[in-house]
Amino acid sequence: MTDAITPVFAPLDIDTLAEAEGRVVVLVAEGSSLDKGARRVNRLMKGALERYLDGEAFGKQKAGQSTVLAYPSGMKAEAVEVVKVDKRLTPELARKVGAVVGAALSGQSVTVVAGSHKNLDQLALGAVLRAYAFKARKTGEAAEVKETSLTIQTGQPEQWTPTVEGVMAVAEGVFLTRDLVNEPSNILTTTEFAARAQALSDLGIEVEVLEEPELEKLGMRALLAVGQGSEAPSKVVVMQWKGGKSGDKPVALVGKGVVFDSGGISIKPGAGMEDMTMDMGGAGTVTGVMKTLAMRKAKANVVGLIGLVENMPDGKAQRPGDIVTTMKGDTVEIINTDAEGRMVLCDVLWYAQERFEPVAMVDLATLTGACVIALGHENAGVFSNDDDFCKSFLKAAETEEEGAWRLPLGAAYDKQLESAKADFKHVGGRPAGAITAAQYLQRFVKEGVPWIHLDIAGVADVKAPTAFAPKGATGWGVRALDRMIADNYEG
Ligand code: BES
Ligand code: MN
Ligand code: ZN
Repeated sequence: MTDAITPVFAPLDIDTLAEAEGRVVVLVAEGSSLDKGARRVNRLMKGALERYLDGEAFGKQKAGQSTVLAYPSGMKAEAVEVVKVDKRLTPELARKVGAVVGAALSGQSVTVVAGSHKNLDQLALGAVLRAYAFKARKTGEAAEVKETSLTIQTGQPEQWTPTVEGVMAVAEGVFLTRDLVNEPSNILTTTEFAARAQALSDLGIEVEVLEEPELEKLGMRALLAVGQGSEAPSKVVVMQWKGGKSGDKPVALVGKGVVFDSGGISIKPGAGMEDMTMDMGGAGTVTGVMKTLAMRKAKANVVGLIGLVENMPDGKAQRPGDIVTTMKGDTVEIINTDAEGRMVLCDVLWYAQERFEPVAMVDLATLTGACVIALGHENAGVFSNDDDFCKSFLKAAETEEEGAWRLPLGAAYDKQLESAKADFKHVGGRPAGAITAAQYLQRFVKEGVPWIHLDIAGVADVKAPTAFAPKGATGWGVRALDRMIADNYEG
């Protein structure tokens, strides 16, 4: 849907700089002499670049910040953007510079004069990620995708060109997640979501769509109960990437895919309900990671499973007070039909373990408002039954600058889930709402399976631009999970 811009690494070519259209971005470190490309730009601008660098404004600029010198005389470019960097371009700073470049990429071409700086793959990634825009539902001029290009001039194009494929694999995965999360629910129905997942078979992913009769046979009554008040058929999609040794058990990624969450009979208040088109964010991330793994031909076995349902109120909808039997066999008293995500996940988690005996399992869900209250939009909530596995994920998330913060689990919280009539209930009241949700899910994790639950309610879709995304869907988690799999399962 949304196409990522493919970066091109090119040798430094000072002759083209005068003719470069759009924007020329020059990286300058304080106190170091201008490299050949910057010197050329300076000469074309009749010394204006150097005058700027000698002035007070550049001195005050921080690494990663930029200044636009508009309509430079002597050049075809509309602007020269001066980005201050450190002498050593760390991966983090490179991505930050990339984000500056990416923000400039909307509607115009950009040429970056990067000299012999390192980590230019990260610069490219930051730029491509930040340049994303969701235009699929606009018409007319606003829908136009203008031809743009990103050229990074460097002394070592032969070193960086081979990294482009990996950068694009990550970007395309993130973009798939963002597109899915940004789509409204009348377009991204359960059927449409399944179709988009099915399309990943072109990349070598084995995709199966389990329909309602099959889910009934499997006994996924908890998941089916959530979807029974909607016209949209409930589905479970299984995506297998077999890039590892045959016979090696896979890592399982499980996602909550509530294409719209009205709350059901426990209907949500009207204000803000439109945001619940993003309630399939967990499934969106799982699908995006699968795409990235396949595009970069990851040497690991990974299975993605997503539970696709719509939570609506109608005559067939489940009610508070209903008691449903999960695939595992436990009975659950429904207290609030708006706590539907855990009812979907519990059956998919169980199915994932019964069928695949995964070596490890991660679930992602826009699960609780309580997690948003606890951590805001900066960090996802992380819950785990395995310290080492959890640490490896947190490390990957930190490297990728995707906020993640571990919260506790604990048997003491189980008291909140006791039910008089059923084996347990699915909600534990307001105190520790994110934890009791995780505690509920843990009941469906078998002994000995390393497991992480990621509550992404606050980070999947945000109201202000983030470092690498415009406002809206972020694609949070695609990069962290891709890296965690690369670090742990491709050795
Ligand atoms: N999808 C919501 C959680 C959510 C809230 C996601 C805000 C994104 C932003 C979830 O299904 C829900 O409604 N949870 C309830 C649970 C409660 C009824 C126990 C909540 O958090 O209020
Ligand atoms: Mn809900
Ligand atoms: Zn929900």
